[in-house]
Amino acid sequence: MKGSHQEGTKHESGGSLAKWLLLTALLVLIVLKTGFLPQLTRFREIRFIEGTDKIVQKVSSFGLGSARWEQLQYDTEKPEAVKDVGAPISKLTCNLSDYYSDTCAMEGDLRIHGISASVYVVSSSTFQPENQTITVRPYTRKWEQATMSRIREVSMRSTAPAPYSFVIPPKCTVRHDVPAVIFSAGGCGTNFFHAMTDLIVPLYITAHEYNGHVQLLITDYKPEWVTKFRPILAALSKYAAIDFDADTAVRCFPSAHVGLVTHRVLGINPALSRNGYTMMGFRDFLRSVFSLQRPWATPISRSSGQKPRLVFVLRRHSRALTNEDDAVAAMTDLGFEVVAALPEDVRDMARFAGVVNSCDVMVGVHGAGLTNMVFLPHNSTVVQIIPWGAMKWPCYYDFGEPVPDMGLQYVEYEVTAEETTLKEKYPRDHPVFTDPLSIHRQGKTWATFLEGQNVTLDIERFRGVMQQVYLSITTE
Ligand SMILES: *[C@@H]1O[C@H](CO)[C@@H](O)[C@H](O)[C@H]1NC(C)=O
Ligand SMILES: *[C@@H]1O[C@H](CO)[C@@H](O)[C@H](O)[C@H]1NC(C)=O
Ligand SMILES: *[C@@H]1O[C@H](CO)[C@@H](O)[C@H](O)[C@H]1NC(C)=O
Ligand SMILES: *[C@@H]1O[C@H](CO)[C@@H](O)[C@H](O)[C@H]1NC(C)=O
Repeated sequence: MKGSHQEGTKHESGGSLAKWLLLTALLVLIVLKTGFLPQLTRFREIRFIEGTDKIVQKVSSFGLGSARWEQLQYDTEKPEAVKDVGAPISKLTCNLSDYYSDTCAMEGDLRIHGISASVYVVSSSTFQPENQTITVRPYTRKWEQATMSRIREVSMRSTAPAPYSFVIPPKCTVRHDVPAVIFSAGGCGTNFFHAMTDLIVPLYITAHEYNGHVQLLITDYKPEWVTKFRPILAALSKYAAIDFDADTAVRCFPSAHVGLVTHRVLGINPALSRNGYTMMGFRDFLRSVFSLQRPWATPISRSSGQKPRLVFVLRRHSRALTNEDDAVAAMTDLGFEVVAALPEDVRDMARFAGVVNSCDVMVGVHGAGLTNMVFLPHNSTVVQIIPWGAMKWPCYYDFGEPVPDMGLQYVEYEVTAEETTLKEKYPRDHPVFTDPLSIHRQGKTWATFLEGQNVTLDIERFRGVMQQVYLSITTE
């Protein structure tokens, strides 16, 4: 029943008796002229273009034999309808010059066939012979070739208005009366940072305006991804997402987006958003999806004996803190109530969203776990620990720059050469220490500085930074 549940209600219920009388008359005519008796199931699939009496669809089970059916339809249609047959009814606009993603928007008579990754834009006013097929990979990391090569291409095939069209688009088997949004889940795996920045925020920008009345079609469908993000997907669309690549139906939609709009890492630029969306609004949306209780973090009075809560996001395989117990002790000693979160605690998104929302501060070494800052109450504080290796800028790009627009405060703790376990592997005169940028230039950033080190915090220095945070969020 995927996606087809809205079919068969709207048009009939809104349709006039006259339409049905006409349809019945038409079928009688066909039966009389051909001796061909359409079956009930087929009958159900016949639809009208809204506002006209023109029949546009037959059932796919007619297959190519439908040519005869189509001919009959022309014979029996009202003369007024016949003269619109050649009028352009669709429109396609693509933006293939954006840095992050290629996107197309279209409306009219759209027929979407997932298994062949095709979108037919029928009788298009924007038809040009030189670009009758436009292909995009609907993912938001256009500049990253390795990622994009894993993304399935979707083709938009425009047909010219009759009588110039030589392409016969497939017949609709399912008709939807809401817009379609087609995107790939193939680029990110379950990495929470990529899921959020590459997909969830862009989906919000693209699909939230439809208020749930939108059908998501996912290419490179990953069941575990869809399961993990189901609460968010369900808040964006009241229909179950369709596994595009396995979908043999020909689905007709009044409008569609192929590809998701994105503005920047974990961010929304309200000036670029048609609806003036903001990251604050996005975070409010998430708060409602997960029924989070705290919209705002409010200053805590030190004399009241209350403690600000701090979630300490811990890593295990790389960029782990070798002295995390000492760090916890130092922060507890300063007056924080520390909630240590191991990777397994973070995995259950809905549960962890609640934990994060109960806190006033999030602390962690650069990594995907920090993405959970999206669940913090407004005006709480994020402390990013930046590992050794000229990593300040790239780390800031992911988890620093986006923070103010989320309505959060940002503090950085940059690890020195003394605090990295790299000093056990490399002598101090090695380029890892003397010229870390040269390691970046050799393309070894990931292996050396992200996968290759753990961090031993200088507890006294760390304590000083955290004391400032403590004072900033508390009052007398
Ligand atoms: C197709 O090409 C024409 C000109 O070459 C251009 O004006 C038009 O915008 C293109 N259409 C799409 C959908 O890209
Ligand atoms: C396409 O995207 C670029 C970059 O985001 C933007 O500057 C441009 O205005 C867009 N073009 C259209 C037609 O929307
Ligand atoms: C937000 O937090 C900062 C300190 O982190 C504080 O100075 C400011 O008053 C807070 N603003 C609001 C509106 O609570
Ligand atoms: C970092 O620490 C973890 C244990 O928490 C260990 O398994 C891993 O090998 C260490 N990595 C490096 C690069 O030292």
